[in-house]
Parts: sequence; structure tokens; C-alpha cells
Amino acid sequence: MRKPVIAGNWKMFKTIAEAVDFVEKIKPVAAKADHCEVIVAPPFTALAGAAGAAKGSKVAVSAQDIHWDKEGAHTGDVAPGMLVDAGCSHVIIGHSERRHDHGETDEQVNRKVKAALAAGLTPIVCVGETLAERESGRTADVLRSQFEGSLAGLTVSDFSRIIIAYEPVWAIGTGKTATPEIAAESHRILRDQARKQFGEKEAAAVRILYGGSVKPDNVSKLMAQEEIDGALVGGASLKVDSFSALVNYK
Ligand code: PGA
Repeated sequence: MRKPVIAGNWKMFKTIAEAVDFVEKIKPVAAKADHCEVIVAPPFTALAGAAGAAKGSKVAVSAQDIHWDKEGAHTGDVAPGMLVDAGCSHVIIGHSERRHDHGETDEQVNRKVKAALAAGLTPIVCVGETLAERESGRTADVLRSQFEGSLAGLTVSDFSRIIIAYEPVWAIGTGKTATPEIAAESHRILRDQARKQFGEKEAAAVRILYGGSVKPDNVSKLMAQEEIDGALVGGASLKVDSFSALVNYK
């Protein structure tokens, strides 16, 4: 009942032409992949191009960040309505690179989530512990508090429109994937927190993606975990071949 999601986070990679070319090539792959939803998240500059190419296909386009205001004097930021205008249906919020490079807090993530929902976008909300937090036995506390703060004040119906991504910071771009068991354990903690905040039914329905060095050779084992509902992929999402292999993890 939880439809899997394979999402590519392109971070600060790809020109407009490269993004359009990628989408054109992945469209037939996505068309055949009834078992999952396929999302790509290009940088802001390539969103409209990618969304234009994806129009009418099974490829959904996501932004990588959002501002909470409708418009205003916020140099360098992009408003929710602008993302919709560019053709986005999803937006990644609270990625650890935003949290660390830009000091984003749970409170800011929360404002962004609410703004995205109000604009009709599907937020992909990222949480995850650092290596120091894991090694000091604080993983569960960190995950619960990021989840609670990032999703505070949402109604049950708001929550039903959200996708969560568990991305342990120590696994992102490092080649160190969490074992399927470690990932599943964190997903259980997050689902338990969802139960506390939003109830049994919503917790059972929310999709929790795993992210952090997902590759074609480890995706099947991760996806075989009952708790893992998809993957948010950086490095391995940049090439058509490897992204196709991820989409076809089955
Ligand atoms: P990675 O990135 O797959 O390159 O580890 C994942 C992410 O940051 O979403």
C-alpha cells in the first residue's frame, strides 16, 4: 500500500541541456516502472527545462529547497509559487547539506514544509544523525527531535501528503551505506514518532525513503526491507544507466 519512490537528488550538478537530455532518456524507463514513482531534483536553473521535458510522463520534478514566503526581499531564495510555476510537484526540504552548509534549523524546515504544502507541493523532508551522534548513542533522540520539530503543527491531512527521507549524514557521499538493518531500525524509530504525532493509520501509510550512498548494487537489499519505501539518491542518480538500474531495482 506504500508505493515505493526512487528519487534522484542532483545537488549542484547539470546544466539545463544536460537535465533535459537526462529526462528524455529516463522517460521510457519510468514509463515501464509501474512498481514505483520516479522523481528527479535538478538545481533551480534547470527545473523549468526538466519539467518541460517531463510533462505528461511518469517523471516528477522536485526542487531541492524552498523559501517559506510567497515573495519578498530574500536574495537568492525561491518562493513556493515559483517552483510550481517552473513545473515542480515535489520539493526536498531540510537536506543535511542545507542544515550544515546553511545552518537550517528544524524551525525553518517546519516553515518550509508548511509553505510547500500550502502551494500544493509534496515535501520530501530529510532527517538524519551525524556520525558523532550515532557513536554517542543519540541516534533515536536526534531522529525523534528532528522529526518532531520539522513536522510540528501539521494536521493529519497535511502529514498524509508528506514523504520522509532518512539520510544518515555519515552515509551521504561517503560510499558507506547504512546496512539494510541499520536503516530499517531508524525507519522504525521514525514511524513510531509518526504514530505518536499523527496516529496509527498515518504512520502506517507514510513513505520513508532511505538515502546515503545508495547504488545499483545495494538498492535491492535496501528495498527488500519492509520498512524502506524508496531511495533518495545523490551520486548514483547522475548517470542515466545507474539511475535506470535504481528505478529497476526489482
Ligand atoms: P549520495 O547522496 O547518494 O551521493 O550519498 C544522497 C543524498 O544526499 O540525498
